[in-house]
Order: sequence, then C-alpha cells, then structure tokens
Amino acid sequence: MKRPLIAGNWKMYKTFDEARAFAHDLVRRVFDVDGRDILVCPSFPYIAELAQAFRGTNVMVGAQNVFYEEQGAYTGEVSAPMIVSAGATHVIIGHSERRQYFHETDEGVNRRVRASLRASLLPIVCVGETLEEREASQTLDVVARQVEHGLAGIEPADAARLSVAYEPVWAIGTGRTATPAMAQEVHAHIRRVLSGLFGEQTASTIRILYGGSVKPDNVDELMAERDIDGVLVGGASLDAGSFERIIRYRG
Ligand code: PGA
Repeated sequence: MKRPLIAGNWKMYKTFDEARAFAHDLVRRVFDVDGRDILVCPSFPYIAELAQAFRGTNVMVGAQNVFYEEQGAYTGEVSAPMIVSAGATHVIIGHSERRQYFHETDEGVNRRVRASLRASLLPIVCVGETLEEREASQTLDVVARQVEHGLAGIEPADAARLSVAYEPVWAIGTGRTATPAMAQEVHAHIRRVLSGLFGEQTASTIRILYGGSVKPDNVDELMAERDIDGVLVGGASLDAGSFERIIRYRG
C-alpha cells in the first residue's frame, strides 16, 4: 500500500495574511493524522512563509509551476533550485490551466520534470482529457501520450520520485467529478503506461492522484479505488475545514 498524498492546489487565491492564517489553522487541525502525506501548494510569494509555518509538522508545501532553466535572464520566471531554497518539496507541473492559458506543451512539461528532479523537487505531473476528447473516445490515448511525452527519457530511479495526477479537464472547477469507476479505468491505464516506460516494479510505486471537483462528500469513494493513491484538490482545499475532511477521508 502506497502512502496516500493529499495535495491542495490553491491556484491564484488568498492574500498573504489569509495564507498564513490558514497554515496555522491547518496544522492544528491535522497534527494527529498519520500515514498520509499532506501538501499545500500556494502562490510563489507564500512558499517561504508556509514552509516556516509547517516546519516540524506533518504538512509540506509545494509550488504550482516551475521554469526549466536553473537561472538566467528570464524575467518573471522561477526555477526549481529557487523553489527548493524557499522550502518547498513538491511542484505541480503541466496543470491543464497552464496548458490552456499559458500554452505549455508536453515537451515543456518534460523539461520542467527533468529540471525539478535535478533540484530534488518532487514533480506532480498533471494529465487529463478535455470534454471533446472524452466524447470522441480519445481519453486513454490522450492521457497515454501526455504521460509518455511528459516523462520521456526519465530514469526509473528518478520516476520513483514523481507522482502523476489524472485531472479530466471537464471535471476541474465544474462540480462534475469523474465517477470512481471512470477514474479507476484511467488510473489503471496510466499505471500500464508507466509500466511500459519504467517497468512494473517502479510503476507500482508511483502515486497516481485524482483531481477534479474532489470534495468532502466524494473523496471516500474515490480513495477506495485500487489505483487512486491520493487526490489533488482545488476549490475544496481553500477552506481548512473541508480540506481537513478530505485529508481524513475514510479508507
Ligand atoms: P478543483 O480543481 O478541485 O477545483 O476541481 C482541481 C485542480 O485543478 O487541481
């Protein structure tokens, strides 16, 4: 049994004071939770503050994006070594909002994954089909392509350090969740693709998270599926009470 990862993606929400207050509240709420990895991914300016608030606790902090060069004249970008030096352990890569609004490609995802692994920053690589692709029965092909291209050339030993998040685009922020069976079908497929890339042994250790309208009232049934090893939570991670309930899913 893999240790589940419960990750919150705050997207572009919360002020600095709200972020700090949330961090202290969350730590009090979940200090007794054992055997589950808990991660909060705020905007860049809050990473160092949250890392400080979470020091010595069971909560970790991650970034929502990373640039693939280490340093240089790239105004406005943030590198993996910078993120690590601010206290983050993880980074979300290739979120559908990055792909949609900022034109990130599978190749860009691949470069970000490599740069992150080089800096010992643990990637959470997002994949998922659009509604049109699902309706055209292309889901499994699209997701396989995103995994294969996004993780091309990664060594199995490195692959063991990353997670994949399956986030159907039509389920993000819409209140429409994939049913547990729909999610499980895609997760099992991702596991097969990972086996092809890295071998069965490594693939069995890689956590595959589900994301897309995960809420307190659907997390239990999602986490009951065999190949769902955690969740990536957007809207419901902004409230400490609902995020706590998700962290305390009944499995
Ligand atoms: P949501 O977002 O939970 O608000 O649907 C999930 C995500 O985009 O990671």
